[in-house]
Amino acid sequence: MTRLTELANELMCDKGTQHFEAHGYTEFYAHLVPEHGAFDLLEIGVKYGSSLWMWNHWNKEMKVYGIDIEPLCCPLHPNVSVSVGSQSDYAFLKSTADQAKAFDVIIDDGSHRYSDIMTSFITLWPYVRYGGYYIIEDLHAPHARAKHVTQDVHNRISHNDHWASRTLFKGKMLVVRKTRLAHWPLYVKSFF
Ligand SMILES: C[S@@+](CC[C@H](N)C(=O)[O-])C[C@H]1O[C@@H](n2cnc3c(N)ncnc32)[C@H](O)[C@@H]1O
Repeated sequence: MTRLTELANELMCDKGTQHFEAHGYTEFYAHLVPEHGAFDLLEIGVKYGSSLWMWNHWNKEMKVYGIDIEPLCCPLHPNVSVSVGSQSDYAFLKSTADQAKAFDVIIDDGSHRYSDIMTSFITLWPYVRYGGYYIIEDLHAPHARAKHVTQDVHNRISHNDHWASRTLFKGKMLVVRKTRLAHWPLYVKSFF
């Protein structure tokens, strides 16, 4: 078990292996998100802050940006910020993303509704750095319409971008990588 999964379990985050749906996504994220150094991560869906604190404990130097429609948690560290607004609101998403300018990883763990997922992806994909990832969690949720999301996400990526995409965790997670490299890193391959 990775230290990130241990942190998730301690903080009662369902990305770990113990609480609520216990998705186990942290076994993957531990390879994607470095433990040290500068990194910009945006997560849509904060709730009580479990995942934001998990990221902050994992790497104190990285900047963690959260978005939630409900003001349920307040940041407790200078490198963590939370913006309150809806992921269906293009202008709100854009102004939040403009604060960071670009992200290494964006995770959508918000409403899990198809239209919100798509609005967020269309707005935020341009803010993903080359070599970075856009990840949509919990595509098994009833309103997510997984097949449409995957197809429509692919259709909305500009022809000028180089990218690759995979579904992991038995189709629950869509991972889109902005890259010029054709191959997937080994740690991602081990989840295929
Ligand atoms: C699954 S919880 C997030 C859990 C958190 N990422 C974690 O791992 O600890 C989903 C969150 O999405 C938020 N949410 C629902 N609809 C939203 C919307 N339209 N825009 C932004 N956030 C939304 C909810 O308020 C809720 O806090």
